[in-house]
Formats: sequence, C-alpha cells, structure tokens
Amino acid sequence: MTSRTNSNASPPALEACDLVVGYHGPDGPASILTTHHFVLPQGHSASIKGKTGSGKTTLLQTLGLMLRPVSGRLLVPVVPPRRTEPAVRNTAKMTRKVLDRLIRDGFSYIFQSPELVDNWDVTNNVALPLLARGMVRAQYEGPIEAVCDELDLDLRQLGGRAVGTLSGGEKQRVSIARALVTNPRILLADEPTGSLDPETKTRVFDLLRQACKRRAVSLVLVTHDTELVQQLDDQYRVAVHADKLNELVAA
Ligand SMILES: Nc1ncnc2c1ncn2[C@@H]1O[C@H](COP(=O)(O)OP(=O)(O)OP(=O)(O)O)[C@@H](O)[C@H]1O
Ligand SMILES: [Mg+2]
Repeated sequence: MTSRTNSNASPPALEACDLVVGYHGPDGPASILTTHHFVLPQGHSASIKGKTGSGKTTLLQTLGLMLRPVSGRLLVPVVPPRRTEPAVRNTAKMTRKVLDRLIRDGFSYIFQSPELVDNWDVTNNVALPLLARGMVRAQYEGPIEAVCDELDLDLRQLGGRAVGTLSGGEKQRVSIARALVTNPRILLADEPTGSLDPETKTRVFDLLRQACKRRAVSLVLVTHDTELVQQLDDQYRVAVHADKLNELVAA
C-alpha cells in the first residue's frame, strides 16, 4: 500500500477495527469478509479490488452505514450537539435513525448499477437528493450548476434531456454529480466506471478524482482497473481464503 499524504491531527474519515461484514439471511447473519484494520484519513482516496462475489459491495455498503456489520467496530467522527469539535464514535450499535442522519449529513454512495430515474431530465436527477432535503429551485440551481460544470456536463445542452437517452459515460457523470451535489465528506463508489470503454473510463475517472480532491472528499472506490487506481492514495484487495473469511488486505 502506498500513502501520498500524511494524516493530520483530525480523526480519520472512517476507521474499521476487526470488522466482519455480511448479510442477514433467514438463519441469522452470514459473514463474508473481515478487515482487521482499515483507516481512511480525511481527504484520502482508497481503492478496493477483488474477485466477483468476494464481498466488495457488501463491505462498501457497510462502510456507507447502509448495512450493519456482523461484528467489530466502525468508527466515524461525529460532532456532538452544542459542540464544534468532532468526537470519534462507533457506529456499529447506533439506531437506524441516527445512522440515517449521519448518512444525510456526510455520506454519499454511487451504486454498482446507476440508480437514475430514466424518464426524468438530467437537472432533476442531479437535484434529487436536494429535493429530498426540501430545497426549492432557487436554492439548488447554484450547487447543481457548479457540480455539473466540474464534471463537464453542459446543462444548456443536456439539462433538459431525459437520462434514459444519454450515453453510458454521460449517465455515469450524472450519477457522480448527484452523489457530490450534497457536499458529502465521504463518497463510496461501487465500480463507477465498470461499464465504460477505456477512453471514457479514464475521462470519467479523472473527473471523479479531481472533483473529490477539489472538495476534499474522502473516497473509497471499488474497481478492477489496476492502472487507474495507481493514482489513488491507498490500494486494497480482497484476499479470498478457502477455509476462512475473505480478508481486506493492502494491495
Ligand atoms: N442479501 C443477500 N442474500 C444472500 N446472499 C448475499 C446477499 N448479499 C450478498 N450475498 C452474497 O455475498 C457474496 C458477496 O456479494 P457482493 O455483492 O458483496 O460481492 P462483490 O465482490 O461486490 O461481487 P461483484 O464483483 O460481482 O460485484 C456473494 O456470494 C453474494 O451472492
Ligand atoms: Mg459488487
């Protein structure tokens, strides 16, 4: 694993200790993968690669607080009420309501298959998380223009187009814009360039990386693209074991 930036005094954006992730099946929790110690310093980027079915999406959804860990600790900085300095808290035992508030206030997720509304136009797709926060057009127009500009999405040309009529690369840039428009602190991206041709993949990856850097977003990216991940701060892979849990290790 390589590290390009020294971590500073502020707590990591995410830290996992002896975390076991899995899904909750009919016979109780089924464990898939463990990570003994994973640290994502604020503003850093990390990649995760691994075989299909090895547990990357399950891990990412757990780091994104959507799935509960089977066991272990998942630490995030939280600003307690009436305080300004963050305190590190273990999310593993928090209620769903508290987790949903943490997600709303700082997490964003790009799903493996883009979850866009095909018959809505580009502007409304990007606006979706802001509409869900009760914002009106006068409030969301500025942030949408700024993020679409960063991702090279020309709203004068594309703003009114139904998303279902866009190319794969344009759709991926719309999902990245939608994930960044809320100004998250942490972005979890599940193979956001997986379905693109090599040239478009590099372009979309560069736009994503630059937008995250500019906004100091901490990024965890699942991808198989070994060439592109060299540009991220840290690289991890899922080691698949025959007789015990899969394991997240430095690549
Ligand atoms: N809710 C669930 N019920 C049953 N099995 C599940 C569930 N969620 C995940 N799994 C299984 O857990 C394993 C890991 O799935 P996951 O989607 O995390 O893999 P992945 O590494 O992201 O794979 P891919 O590269 O194909 O996206 C798979 O065998 C999958 O079938
Ligand atoms: Mg997956």
